[in-house]
Amino acid sequence: MNRVLNIIVFSGAGMSAESGIETFRDSNGLWENYRIEDVATPQAWAKDPDLVTNFYNERRRTIIQATPNDAHLGVKSLEEIGEVLVITQNIDDLHERAGSSNVLHLHGNIRQAKSSGPNQEKEYYPIDGWKLDHTTICPDGYRLRPHVVWFGEDVPCYEEAAIQLDQADILIVIGTSLQVYPAAGLIQFAAKAQQKFIIDPKADELCVPSDFIKLNAQQARVSQP
Ligand SMILES: NC(=O)c1ccc[n+]([C@@H]2O[C@H](COP(=O)([O-])OP(=O)(O)OC[C@H]3O[C@@H](n4cnc5c(N)ncnc54)[C@H](O)[C@@H]3O)[C@@H](O)[C@H]2O)c1
Repeated sequence: MNRVLNIIVFSGAGMSAESGIETFRDSNGLWENYRIEDVATPQAWAKDPDLVTNFYNERRRTIIQATPNDAHLGVKSLEEIGEVLVITQNIDDLHERAGSSNVLHLHGNIRQAKSSGPNQEKEYYPIDGWKLDHTTICPDGYRLRPHVVWFGEDVPCYEEAAIQLDQADILIVIGTSLQVYPAAGLIQFAAKAQQKFIIDPKADELCVPSDFIKLNAQQARVSQP
């Protein structure tokens, strides 16, 4: 009996670029207009929770209006040939809305909120609509905050992602500059994968081990069956 093919897709902000969601570092990217330390750190939240909440409310509004693009649908269709796990750095839910069955969000899910207290990874609360009211108090007595991993915080799913990557037969990295650590370091755990691809318009410039096949997004589209 043939063993089921274990495929892991590791995605980043470029995956959702064609859905109209700004990336992180490209010119005109999101962070050209904001300072990371003002909106995406625990210190920023402590200093000005209104500003941080409004920043993520705007991101959530854009994401709700966006729709999955061909790349999200292509990733979903991989389920026809194997067991697929999507490990995404994205906080949008476009993989899920494209129908992908197994999605691990390394940096959280903007459609959810969590407690800002010490046990914040215990429970996630769906946000109805685009506005999070951060004055809402959770059962543990702390205020709600967006379910997003900020710079300087641990990545709660890191170990689980590493274990899964160790089992991968095929790794497909899509739309990430591989600059945000520790997430970017995870691809090293796919040492046993027989085939590794990186699909990105800047693939030639990205720093990946030599056994990766580099494709720009156009090549990947043309080579679809
Ligand atoms: N959609 C989202 O949820 C979103 C958006 C912006 C930032 N973020 C967060 O910011 C961090 C950014 O790191 P990152 O490496 O994911 O993003 P990044 O912005 O650092 O890199 C984006 C990559 O996408 C590529 N790209 C641009 N257009 C593309 C396209 N049409 N098709 C394929 N690739 C394309 C770029 O060449 C670049 O390498 C992540 O941790 C993520 O959590 C998430």
